[in-house]
Amino acid sequence: MCGIVGYTGAKKAAPILIEGLTGLEYRGYDSSGVAVLENGQIKMVKAKGRLKNLVELTDNGERLPGTVGIGHTRWATHGEPSDVNSHPHISKSGRFAVVHNGIIENYLELRDFLIARGYEFVSQTDTEVIAHLIEYYYNGDPVETLRKVMNKLEGSYALGVLSCYAPDTFYAARKDSPLVVGLGEHENFIASDMPAVLKYTRRFLLIDDGEIVAVSPTAASVFNRNREPVEKQPFTVEWDVSAAEKNGYPHFMLKEIYEQPKAVEATLSPRIKNGDIVLDTIAWTEEQMRTFDKINVVACGSAYHAGMIGKYFIEKLCRIPVEIDVASEFRYRAPIVDNRTLTVVISQSGETADTLAGLREAKKLGSRVLSIVNVVGSSIARESDDVLYTWAGPEIAVATTKGYTSQVAALMLLGLKLARVRGTVTQAQFTELLGELQALPDQIRAVLDRNVEQIQYLSSVYFASNDAFFIGRGMDYALALEGALKLKEISYIHAESYAAGELKHGTISLIEKGSLVIAVAVDKRLQDKMRSNIKEVKTRGATVIALAPVGNNLASEVDHVVTLPDCGEDTYPVVAVTALQLLGYYIASARGCDIDKPRNLAKSVTVE
Ligand code: F6R
Repeated sequence: MCGIVGYTGAKKAAPILIEGLTGLEYRGYDSSGVAVLENGQIKMVKAKGRLKNLVELTDNGERLPGTVGIGHTRWATHGEPSDVNSHPHISKSGRFAVVHNGIIENYLELRDFLIARGYEFVSQTDTEVIAHLIEYYYNGDPVETLRKVMNKLEGSYALGVLSCYAPDTFYAARKDSPLVVGLGEHENFIASDMPAVLKYTRRFLLIDDGEIVAVSPTAASVFNRNREPVEKQPFTVEWDVSAAEKNGYPHFMLKEIYEQPKAVEATLSPRIKNGDIVLDTIAWTEEQMRTFDKINVVACGSAYHAGMIGKYFIEKLCRIPVEIDVASEFRYRAPIVDNRTLTVVISQSGETADTLAGLREAKKLGSRVLSIVNVVGSSIARESDDVLYTWAGPEIAVATTKGYTSQVAALMLLGLKLARVRGTVTQAQFTELLGELQALPDQIRAVLDRNVEQIQYLSSVYFASNDAFFIGRGMDYALALEGALKLKEISYIHAESYAAGELKHGTISLIEKGSLVIAVAVDKRLQDKMRSNIKEVKTRGATVIALAPVGNNLASEVDHVVTLPDCGEDTYPVVAVTALQLLGYYIASARGCDIDKPRNLAKSVTVE
């Protein structure tokens, strides 16, 4: 939801800023802009539309001299996508330029305050108030000025600020929006996310809420809300730049689908030691693990779907009730949560505003919060009591794939550990399930090897469908939800998912000759029931593609069966979802969609 970047060093800033924005475009892509300092004056170029427009206008940044600058890629919230609403926004006198990710909730009040003092506004954005406020409060000390401005702002922000008074320094600050400082050799950076500047550095400082940073080529000086210097330890990321490049794949999404065996393995294997599960980043004692009487899962979108699989798995294995909420609803239903509830918050980005708000609510109610997060040092990771990282590496495509599968794998690991500690599985069951988890990477590889051609073929036949219905029971229903989301978000085909038994309670009236139904029938225990539901739609003329395990006998009932490799009874969703992701991907590809950047979406949803 908007990406910001900043550079100061000996090189020309604009090409580096644009390169950084390329790595952040997944966060928003309806307009972009850069501002650089040239002979003490701020020069700015902004363009509506994709980043390529900015690239063309500036000859990839080469037309802008200057070695210090800031840049932005936008996902519009206040004001339509347009040149004038694009960031950076500049102050009245042109002495300050600002890029912003987040939302200023009291911007109307601040706008009135500034208008009364002679300021004029050219955009409809909430951000423009920040540029004018900085100018209004400027007293020769940029850090003190920013502190004053931050005291006036309500809402969320990561800011980059360029000032004509500082020849080689820019400033940054954050509250509830991600911001990192990249430390290079005689050059330094800021970015919303590390992959944006990974080509230049793997050493980062994580900026905390309320902090301000003055970034020069040789230093990144951090100050807290009281203007006191803060000592921060840099940390080094393991990934190299290839993790954020396509490496020959036509889209990041396909690359990330193929990275799933590695992502799942990296999430599981460091935690499986000598036949046991060791969650060493979790500080609870085994005694505490036995005291929880309820688990509460809070997440959005695909992470919510991952949580649903977790619910089925954990309830079955641990005999603890698991409630699951879409994060945006959680706070508003007076949830029954206390200090005997474990809240599990799931988020790939670790920055989703609704999920973060849910986490805070759960903590306020006295719950211990464990987060399952992919991005190290993200807000959700930092505010949780414990973190179980998914080690999927950077996920660039807007539609999550490896993020989702590694979340499911982490939930299964957690469930199995709890079951062992709480004594709800026997040693033999534990060992068997552990073996099933360890087999997952190879089983995903088998889908990628054996099922892909058939899925490509099916996609070429059905890509022109207007609607698709995904049905399933139990964990297959949770998979149906994810399959439908994948298809609709990247192909724009209207796709819905239903608990298969529920269809006949209304929705079946939509089924007519040629309606496309994807029947997720992987759970062998529910196959007979699924067969009946398949018959119900077949009788009404539907075309049915079934997803089923090896040994199924659905061929005579449906139009096509995608037969999955043999998998564990309780762990198969991690494998089966791969086929649904491929189906969504190849259908979107056949329709010529912009797969990595679907319309209206952004990777990291930092507004509520
Ligand atoms: C769908 C998708 C979204 C995210 C959701 C939560 O493909 O990616 O539904 O799952 O926005 O995002 P995180 O996991 O970053 O909190």
